[in-house]
Amino acid sequence: MTASAPTRITLPRPDDWHVHLRDGAMLQAVLPETARDFGRAIIMPNLVPPVVTTADAVAYRDRILAALPQGADFAPLMTLYLTETTDPDDLAAGFASGLIQAVKLYPAGATTNSASGVRDFDKVRPVLERMAEIGLTLCVHGEVTDSDIDIFDREAVFIDRVLDPIRKATPGLRVTMEHVTTKNAVDYVRANDDDLAASITTHHLMINRNHLLVGGIKPHYYCLPVAKREEHRLALVEAATSGDKRFFLGTDSAPHTDPNKLSECGCAGVFSATNTMACLAHVFEAEGALDKLAGFASENGPAHYKLPVNQATITLEKRTDPAPFPAQIQTGEGPVTLFNPGYPLMWRVV
Ligand code: NCD
Ligand code: ZN
Repeated sequence: MTASAPTRITLPRPDDWHVHLRDGAMLQAVLPETARDFGRAIIMPNLVPPVVTTADAVAYRDRILAALPQGADFAPLMTLYLTETTDPDDLAAGFASGLIQAVKLYPAGATTNSASGVRDFDKVRPVLERMAEIGLTLCVHGEVTDSDIDIFDREAVFIDRVLDPIRKATPGLRVTMEHVTTKNAVDYVRANDDDLAASITTHHLMINRNHLLVGGIKPHYYCLPVAKREEHRLALVEAATSGDKRFFLGTDSAPHTDPNKLSECGCAGVFSATNTMACLAHVFEAEGALDKLAGFASENGPAHYKLPVNQATITLEKRTDPAPFPAQIQTGEGPVTLFNPGYPLMWRVV
């Protein structure tokens, strides 16, 4: 007789190693969605204007803490947005004080609010060298922005043209390849040492580019990096569920209001904070890998960032009725549609 599949699983409280919380009314509405299931999150700095100095990060952290629901068990981990004029001393002081956990590299023009990003990588070399010296992690949006590179190839080309040369020129630099979407990125992480790790989003484990484009365009599946072919999604699922410590959860939950998504020039971003843990339980169960979920969502990220695993726990339960997630959450700026993988989710956090 085979043992029946588990319908209840308890994990250390997970963390989200890549989230967009925005500011103002949007922050107020989306923060409780992240704080409900996650103990900590790496907060992306792509506000307008971006979070570029330690003083900016202190002020943003204080706005986040002020927006937290009473009694929430959540700590924001702050990042700085790397620009060609970032001051290495400011960044080192922010890291030494415990406030700054990572620095985010956006190639200029790569994605939402990335106009202040890096154009000339030589200009940030002194900053990267300082980061390698002090052990501060560089989080990389790994896409080239050259207009002649096809959008589906931008991650793979970035690895060869930008990331590998940066890593070779800066030995010891700790790097997180953010929201990887290709087998190329998975293979690159595997071929290197523990200084390099990758975050994987919820939605890239569940959708490929057909989900985005076949049978009508689905704006709520449009994000950057854009979803790729099924073979790439399968490589991501394999990496996430393998138990390899170099892969961990970064939801890239990125809220945009419906009017901004459903537009002639719709914004990139998938909002998945609310149902990520239910989605992940579904994906890991389908792979027969529920025992690897704690590693992916709760343990591998802290190991990469040299932080302790959360002491608190959460429990997920599989029921026979679908979990009642809302289609949208309401915000002071307008409705934000929640990621819907296209089938019912039977797991929920209890
Ligand atoms: C992000 C956003 O909206 O801020 N969008 C996205 O599609 N992921 C920016 C980003 O992380 O690329
Ligand atoms: Zn992002």
